[in-house]
Amino acid sequence: MVEATTNQATTNRGWRLRRHPAGPLAAGDLELITDPIAPLRDGQALVRTLVLSVEAASRIWLGHQRAFMPPVPVGEVMRGIGVGEVIASRRADLSPGDVVAGFLGWQEFCVADDGLLEAPLTTLPSPLPAPASAFTGVLGHIGISAYLGVDYLNPSPGQTVVISAAAGGVGSIAGQLAKLRGARVVGIAGGPAKCRYVVDDLGFDACVDHRDPAWRELLDAAVPDGVDLDFENVGGPIMDHLLMRLNLNARIFLCGMVSQYDDSGERTAWRGLVNVDQIHMQRATMRGFIVTDHLDRWPEALEALAALWMAGRLKYRESVVTGLEHAPASLARLLAGETVGKLVVTVGQPSPGCGVQLVTTA
Ligand SMILES: NC(=O)c1ccc[n+]([C@@H]2O[C@H](COP(=O)([O-])OP(=O)(O)OC[C@H]3O[C@@H](n4cnc5c(N)ncnc54)[C@H](OP(=O)(O)O)[C@@H]3O)[C@@H](O)[C@H]2O)c1
Repeated sequence: MVEATTNQATTNRGWRLRRHPAGPLAAGDLELITDPIAPLRDGQALVRTLVLSVEAASRIWLGHQRAFMPPVPVGEVMRGIGVGEVIASRRADLSPGDVVAGFLGWQEFCVADDGLLEAPLTTLPSPLPAPASAFTGVLGHIGISAYLGVDYLNPSPGQTVVISAAAGGVGSIAGQLAKLRGARVVGIAGGPAKCRYVVDDLGFDACVDHRDPAWRELLDAAVPDGVDLDFENVGGPIMDHLLMRLNLNARIFLCGMVSQYDDSGERTAWRGLVNVDQIHMQRATMRGFIVTDHLDRWPEALEALAALWMAGRLKYRESVVTGLEHAPASLARLLAGETVGKLVVTVGQPSPGCGVQLVTTA
């Protein structure tokens, strides 16, 4: 048993849910609270959060709709995936200096007690082979979702793949993986700058700006041979329009429907897809996906992603926000389309000399 170190932190700042947002996340839905940290008991370790993944799913967890995980209860610390450093331990399997990844929550310190956490933490390799933030992005559940989605769609030369939220965390990686398989890859993103990034930097064949009032016509023109495969991240009117362009035996990988997360609690703004009949007419297949259902394939996915990234064949970019206090505002910015690549929030500094780099450089 490793004993707790004497320099254990005594207070913890964390974002607690005050009320489930009604519509877009508003100031006051979450509150930043400082709590005392109780002395560790046997079986517990104290983890300092280094980086947090703020992502589209964060908005799902804030709501109270039926979802793949239960809603965060009012009064509890906001759920969030992150990478942290063990600073004190009364667990046999964790030692001070270990770097771990998992559901640390939107807080400075997490008491790692496998009986209390939603899922056990993963200990990352030592020395850490990549910046900590990468393990929430290209080398984490975001990259793995892209990898497993493209693997399911199995694009080949001659096929057209459409990828929505193409400049975001998942979409930017998925599009590059689909290109590597030789397909024609069309992205959808918000604004000319993002579309240029998707084509010029990430190598997609085309990208449609969904903020352009003529986006429907632009999308039709970008897929003259129809859509064989849809890596769906957005849902809503964009997905509905794509359904009308599906080819015979098309496949849809339903990774997410981020355009609907803000109103999913009350279901006021969006009344649902109307072109679903095209799944029937085109004998299409749609697969709903949750990355944590496929833990058995994570090692394979991580090996492939790491090899491509290290070889320079996969570009990966982060939008970095400094400071836990900015986590809710950064989520609002992500949902408004104001971030590019994977959004990460830096929270704490690694111990001196432990050799951990926090974030990737562009
Ligand atoms: N199923 C799983 O296990 C799993 C795991 C991870 C992520 N996901 C899903 O993957 C998707 C991407 O997640 P992420 O965390 O990487 O986020 P992200 O793509 O980095 O950010 C979300 C992006 O969605 C776009 N967007 C937001 N509202 C939109 C709207 N109304 N219409 C069109 N585009 C809109 C915005 O980009 P623009 O500026 O381009 O509009 C925004 O930047 C989400 O649907 C998420 O739920 C699923």
